[in-house]
Amino acid sequence: MSNLYGVIGCPIAHSLSPLIHNDALAQHHIKGYYDAFHVEVENLEDAVKGFRALGVRGFNITIPHKVGMLSLVDEIDEGAQKIGAINTVVNDNGTFIGYNTDGVGFVNGLKNVTQLDDKKILVIGAGGASRAIVYSLLLEKTAKVDIVNRSTKKAADLLEEYEAFKSDVFSFDTINNIEDYDIIVNTTSVGMHPHVNEMPISLDGLKKGAIVSDIIYNPLQTTLLSKASELGAITQNGVPMFVNQGAVAFQLWTGIYPDTERMTKLVEQQLG
Ligand code: ATR
Repeated sequence: MSNLYGVIGCPIAHSLSPLIHNDALAQHHIKGYYDAFHVEVENLEDAVKGFRALGVRGFNITIPHKVGMLSLVDEIDEGAQKIGAINTVVNDNGTFIGYNTDGVGFVNGLKNVTQLDDKKILVIGAGGASRAIVYSLLLEKTAKVDIVNRSTKKAADLLEEYEAFKSDVFSFDTINNIEDYDIIVNTTSVGMHPHVNEMPISLDGLKKGAIVSDIIYNPLQTTLLSKASELGAITQNGVPMFVNQGAVAFQLWTGIYPDTERMTKLVEQQLG
């Protein structure tokens, strides 16, 4: 095998993955190089064949290829299978194994600010990011993982698929119990640059000491997080999820969980 790692996506030019992974490789004196590869949808299969021929050690997969990768690997980890998307491939002596580190990355980041036992959690959104996050939250000893989504059917289907029978689904019109939740997580793109003044949900009635997490990191502080701070909540932006999904991937490739505080500083310097 080669010493090459990478990420494939489209667009990919602004990816911060090379920054954090090359730094972690250097930190741990691992001979290797991580690059970003712009791959169009119609070239995904060829790109993966190329990676096989070159003996690439491992790679990440980002938008729009996470679902397309499912049919291009030799084995799929149970979580990635359930989530229905792959963001990390490990080359195990020629066998390409697909994983999804997004959800566990999010949870690892969240655990830096709170423990999750008995917590009531509200997830906003039911798309790809939500699928990964909800999957991983349901593996924890949380009291409840509810979803609020524009399309309630999509959220209900997701919870049924995950056999999350104690979870509830709300539409934005029907949710009126914000004060019940210890943790609120935005997984939608509402509030992302350039629509920075939008927020996905009203935080009126937010519980004292609640945690509000937004997976967006452009901007670093969304309107949702600003409002949550004003209300006295503990807030977390999308950097911990980004960094920890990378850290879990790095561990799958090397066996080492890298220094996520160091990665966070690097990313925030770049984005700040
Ligand atoms: P991702 O992979 O980033 O999660 P996605 O799969 O397209 O992206 O999912 C986007 C999520 O954001 C969905 O929950 C979507 O709601 P619907 O399922 O009803 O489409 C939500 N979303 C996107 N734009 C939105 C908006 N303007 N208002 C409310 N929800 C929005």
